[in-house]
Amino acid sequence: MSQTIKAAIVGTGFIGPAHLEALRRIPNVMVTGLVEVNQELAEEKARLLGIPNAYTFEDMLKVSEIDVVHICTPNFLHYAQAKAVLEAGKHVICEKPLAVKIDEAEELVSLAKSKGLVNAVHFNLRYYPVVRQMKTMRESGELGEVYAVMGSYLQDWLFLQTDYNWRLEPDKSGDSRAIADIGSHLLDITEYVTGLKITEVMADFSTVHKTRLKPLKAIETYSGKMLSMDDYEEVPINTEDHATVMLRFDNGSKGSITVSQVNAGRKNRLNIEIAGSKSNFEFNSERPNELWIGKRESANQHLMKDPALFTPEAAGLISFPGGHNEGFPDTSKQMFKEVYAAVRTGKQPDSPSFPTFADGLRELIIGERIIESNKKQAWVKI
Ligand SMILES: NC(=O)c1ccc[n+]([C@@H]2O[C@H](COP(=O)([O-])OP(=O)(O)OC[C@H]3O[C@@H](n4cnc5c(N)ncnc54)[C@H](O)[C@@H]3O)[C@@H](O)[C@H]2O)c1
Repeated sequence: MSQTIKAAIVGTGFIGPAHLEALRRIPNVMVTGLVEVNQELAEEKARLLGIPNAYTFEDMLKVSEIDVVHICTPNFLHYAQAKAVLEAGKHVICEKPLAVKIDEAEELVSLAKSKGLVNAVHFNLRYYPVVRQMKTMRESGELGEVYAVMGSYLQDWLFLQTDYNWRLEPDKSGDSRAIADIGSHLLDITEYVTGLKITEVMADFSTVHKTRLKPLKAIETYSGKMLSMDDYEEVPINTEDHATVMLRFDNGSKGSITVSQVNAGRKNRLNIEIAGSKSNFEFNSERPNELWIGKRESANQHLMKDPALFTPEAAGLISFPGGHNEGFPDTSKQMFKEVYAAVRTGKQPDSPSFPTFADGLRELIIGERIIESNKKQAWVKI
């Protein structure tokens, strides 16, 4: 493989450009190709984003110098696109969710394994240094036995009846929305940090807006463009705006998560509190440089992100000295550093440090059991 690894990005709405920006901050990686829904848009976006080549998806697959493909399209396209990329012999970084159905994700896991290609799912929130800090402190015993987990992931970008996005359409997004879209990050972090496995779930969903006003013109996620009332049609909504899920873990402990896309003022707030027998950890993604460590018999601690104070593994995800805040865009950069180190070796590591297709499958399985539990209004085993 040449010294500079060449990559292509498929889909350039909200998250595609975030992948691009992260890749531009990694040495010896170059995004040389872009794919969009049609060639005309691909060329326009390539010009805007400063990417040399615009391709159709099929033509991009034929370009031998492209080693890695980032899939940043709506959920229903992930399976077919990830499969085609692997079959073309390229490494793949897919957005979450890995697919919309478990059997599709299973097929991708086994195809990636048989090809030996690098495969990753962009669970980038694992790459907040504080999240790695909590994980490594738990591993070294500083949390103690996990008593309970309390998590929430709250947003407000679907608060109004006029807020609309392809995520509201199950044929594009899948049968779950808030859980699949943001709950998946929270559940991934819960298992990642605690080292526990969720064994049973009991879910209760609500759809606050039973109908929404769908714009008759396409708008990109978070673009906040304004339309007049004549530009909308009223459509029924059948996925959850809000969900509460009780959790049981394999060590016998319990937890709960609340996920909502209709909480005014909560822009993008993942909060996790893990109660252990030695300490209590709390992390909030809107204040990502701080870790609160609760104590019973001494003063509580407030640990600021600082490579000099973090465990070596967590310090490895920090690029700036203490007090120089890092945030959401840095998570993808840190994740891609690990993924591209694997790409450089040409194959998936035996024990990857980054989230893989297997992790993507795990989240689909948990998500599907959560949907089933809400339908049955009963506990469901994972
Ligand atoms: N990891 C994260 O933090 C995070 C954050 C946001 C979104 N996401 C995931 O990223 C994916 C995209 O979300 P988004 O918010 O960027 O959506 P978006 O609607 O803003 O962008 C989607 C892009 O895909 C393009 N597209 C659609 N069909 C295509 C096709 N057939 N070929 C090529 N391009 C096509 C669209 O034109 C658009 O530019 C989703 O799966 C979402 O779950 C992840």
